[in-house]
Order: sequence, then structure tokens, then C-alpha cells
Amino acid sequence: MSTYTDEINSRRTFAIISHPDAGKTTLTEKLLLFGGAIHVAGAVKSNKIKKTATSDWMEIERQRGISVATSVMGFNYRDYKINILDTPGHQDFAEDTFRTLTAVDSVIIVIDSAKGVEVQTRKLMEVCRMRKTPVIVFINKLDREGQDPFDLLDEVEEELQIRVRPLSWPIDMGQRFKGVYNIYEQGLNLFTPDKQRITESVAFDDLSSPELENYMSKAQAEKLRADIELIDGVYQPFDKEEYLAGQLAPVFFGSALNNFGVQELLNCFVEIAPSPRPIAAVERAVDPHEEGFTGFVFKIHANMDPNHRSCIAFVKICSGRFERNVNYKHIRLGKQFRFSSPTAFMAQRKETVDEAFAGDIIGLPDTGNFRIGDTLTSGEELHFRGLPSFSPELFKYIENQDPMKAKQLAKGIDQLMGEGVAQLFTNQFNGRKIIGTVGQLQFEVIQYRLLHEYGAQCRWEPISLYKACWIESDKPEALEAFKKRKSQYIAKDIEGRDVYLADSGYVLSMAQQDFPDIRFHFTSEF
Ligand code: G4P
Repeated sequence: MSTYTDEINSRRTFAIISHPDAGKTTLTEKLLLFGGAIHVAGAVKSNKIKKTATSDWMEIERQRGISVATSVMGFNYRDYKINILDTPGHQDFAEDTFRTLTAVDSVIIVIDSAKGVEVQTRKLMEVCRMRKTPVIVFINKLDREGQDPFDLLDEVEEELQIRVRPLSWPIDMGQRFKGVYNIYEQGLNLFTPDKQRITESVAFDDLSSPELENYMSKAQAEKLRADIELIDGVYQPFDKEEYLAGQLAPVFFGSALNNFGVQELLNCFVEIAPSPRPIAAVERAVDPHEEGFTGFVFKIHANMDPNHRSCIAFVKICSGRFERNVNYKHIRLGKQFRFSSPTAFMAQRKETVDEAFAGDIIGLPDTGNFRIGDTLTSGEELHFRGLPSFSPELFKYIENQDPMKAKQLAKGIDQLMGEGVAQLFTNQFNGRKIIGTVGQLQFEVIQYRLLHEYGAQCRWEPISLYKACWIESDKPEALEAFKKRKSQYIAKDIEGRDVYLADSGYVLSMAQQDFPDIRFHFTSEF
């Protein structure tokens, strides 16, 4: 145990994730209101790039500006130091969100009660499941007509593949929405549609009492009693250990817009959500309470000012204490660095800090020394794993438009890939560079940024590919035979690993059949 135990145990570092429009931004804002970090609703700007803005460059730049300010929002609530990590709403930047999930200790998933589990929620949950991240589910927009709450719970269990346990329960919905029964604290929270006010709750531990009908109609009271009885019969009591192991998701209901059900969520969250947890490095597991400082870069944000090509590297502190102006080892470069102006993020302000602890996120001004996944330590040779790359969905050849600027283009591509904007594959047959992304918008952003930040012009050329698979084999000769047979479709990723570019699902499954000694992976970590 270290001398920083109390500091570290009070940290709650998490992300709110959702399919666009479920209410992530609204919920974030209400949590900040409770923490006193902001005072009026509407102060948090959504960092989502609206669907209409796909080709509006100014809009993308503006959004990038906003997302620096709101990348991390820290505030104090009761005795807890809370860090909310924001994630991009636009699905073309899903990979950014996946990476942010490597830096959190837990997540809250917001689901729209009318729409239920949506595509993006499912994908994000897959990443949480891979990492065994504890999740709490908040079912939002109860002030609107939505699906039956039992059906929603079934859907969450089935679609997100996690057991659920409701800790609050809605009393009717839409126009007739009365409030929620707080199962966790045994209280009745009555709904008043009001965007700013914070609701009071009435302690109510005996639902069989006729007094329940003072607060709602007889039919509603009877329904609530029956529902709660059914819940106790069907769902096991809440078990915190199962939640922490990522096997059980407590579920809350409410309306973020009306600030309803949010405080119950927050109160329960600070109590049950994990403080920083041990993180596996390649060499060993690192405990947050260790004395030595360790951390890794999970996000790099380029400056928008083209005259200062500086970035902010976002570092998650994994153990110990970070101090300003102290030397730390940059493992990949094998060099010592000290930072004179590290920043912490409180609400929407960014300020220089002298120290920060495990669980915190700090921003380090950088001029190109960092890549996503880089490890910093007090001296120990350690490598945090970060998140594997996933096979991209879209592929294009990137070509130089301006022969005088080949160097700038190469540098720009290198740095943007280091930031994790997209993935680069170099075809081993013809040497051409292929960029892989999860969405069309990323190609536009790359082209724009190459031009504005590096003065390089690129052109896209189509290539028809289905998937990029990382390949390996225990038999070197089998791997060589495969690479020879598929020579036109073999590439190297940025780390120099072998990748097979399959041009159709059919070709891929034939290759899997014909080459049983080769293992095909859809993520870069295996
Ligand atoms: P996101 O970050 O997950 O994409 O969602 P966001 O919070 O921006 O919310 C999406 C829309 O849903 C917003 O409306 C927001 O006001 C609304 N909303 C959020 N929570 C609730 C709720 O509890 N009840 C109801 N009825 N609506 C809710 P919008 O019209 O798209 O944006 P705006 O013009 O209100 O900002």
C-alpha cells in the first residue's frame, strides 16, 4: 500500500457510452450539475458531429476544438473525485471511443427506452466485455412512451450478453410517468418535469402500505407492487462482486433531460463503481497503489493551430503519483522526459497541475514524441498493452498529389497514424499504401488535416477489400507458402506485422479452408 491510498481510492474514472441520441451528453451535463462543476443546463456542448456536417470542414474543426475541452471532465462529489471521459458521438470515430475505454475503470451505458439496444451500444459493449469492465445501465427518456421495462431488461441481457439487476423501477411512463421506485435505497422518487431542479425522494420501505396510493393511482400502486415482487422472484439480489467482475449490470431508469433518476444513479455509482484497478502490462500486473509512477497514452489530440504543430497526449495514470518537472522514462524511445506544464481537466477548464494520482488523466503537451499506447514510468521497463486494432471496414489507396511534398505527406501519414486516426497497411507486392477506416468521414478528415497541418495533398484511389486479417502460424514454412500464394494481398501494418487483405468473404473462407495451418485474426492482439 502506498501513501496515496486515500487519494486513489476516492477516484472514479469512467465513460458514458451510448448510441448517438440516447442521451449521453444530457446525462453528462446533469452529472456535472450535481458535482457543482457547472451551474446551468446547456453548458456542455455536445461534441458530436451532426449527421448533416459530414463535409463541413469548419464544423469538424470546431467540433475538434470542443472535444479537447470536454475530453475529460473532472469534478468532486461527496468525498469522491470523479473523472468522466468523453467519447465521440459520431460512429465514424468509434475507434477513438474504443481506445478511451482502455483508460476507464467502469462505464455507464445509456439506452433510449423507446429504441432499446442499438448497433453502437452493442459494439461498445463488446469492448467492455473483452476488458471485463464493470457497467451500469441507465435507461433514459422515461418521460416518453417507451418499451415495457421487463422487455427492455430481456433485450439488454440478450443483446449485450450480460446479466442485469434493476436497482430502480419506473412507475408508468410517458404522459403517465409518476417516477421511480429506488430499489437500492428503498425510496420513492416522484417525477416533476423540470429541467433544472433536483428531485427529492421519500423514504418508502414498505410497498404494501396503503400510503403508496397517496402518491399514485391505485392501479399504478398495484402494478408497482406486482412488478417489484416479480423482480425479487426473477432476479438475484444485487451482488457487487459480480458487478465488479463485469458479469452483472445494475440497471437504473430515469430521464436525463428532466434530471430525474440521475442523482440516484450517481449516489449508487460512487458507492459501487471501482476505484482504479490493477492493469495488466506485458511484463506483469500493475497495482494502482504501487509507489512508482506508471501511465500510458490512450489518446492524442492535435492542435488546430497549423503554426504550432503541437499536440496533447492524454495519459491515464495507472499507478503511483505523477509530478510536474520530474523525469519519467518514455519506454518506446528509451529516453527521459520531464513535463513543465502537464494539465488536468476540471469540468471544462484545463489547468496546470503539480501532481496527479492513479486514476487521473493528465494532458501532456507534445511535439510528436508520443504515439497511442506509449508507456511512461518512473524507470521500470514496462509496456501497457492498450487496445488491439480491429480490422477496418473501408479501405482506400492513398496517393501523393504533389511530387514536391512527398516528405510532408509521409510525415503527416506517420503522425496521423500514430494518433490513431486510421490504420495504415503497406502492400508488400507493389509497395502502395492503403488506409483503412471505420467510416467515410475519417478519409475526409485525413485529407483535410494532411493539407492544413502538413501542407501535403493526397488523393484516394479505390480498392475493393473486405477485411484485413492479421496472420500467423506455428509453421514458418506454411506462413511463407501462404504469403507466396497470396503475394498480391499481403501487407504489413504500422508495427510490421503480417496482414492478409481479403477481397471478399468468400475468398477469405476459402483461404481459411485451404490453409489450415494459418490463423486469421480480426484484431491485432492474439
Ligand atoms: P447523445 O449525446 O447520446 O447523442 O444524446 P443527447 O444527450 O444529445 O440527447 C439526444 C436528444 O435526446 C436531445 O434532443 C436531448 O434533449 C434528448 N433527450 C435526452 N434525454 C432525454 C430525456 O430524458 N427525455 C427526452 N424526452 N428527451 C431527452 P435533441 O432535440 O436532439 O437536441 P436538443 O435540441 O434538445 O439539444
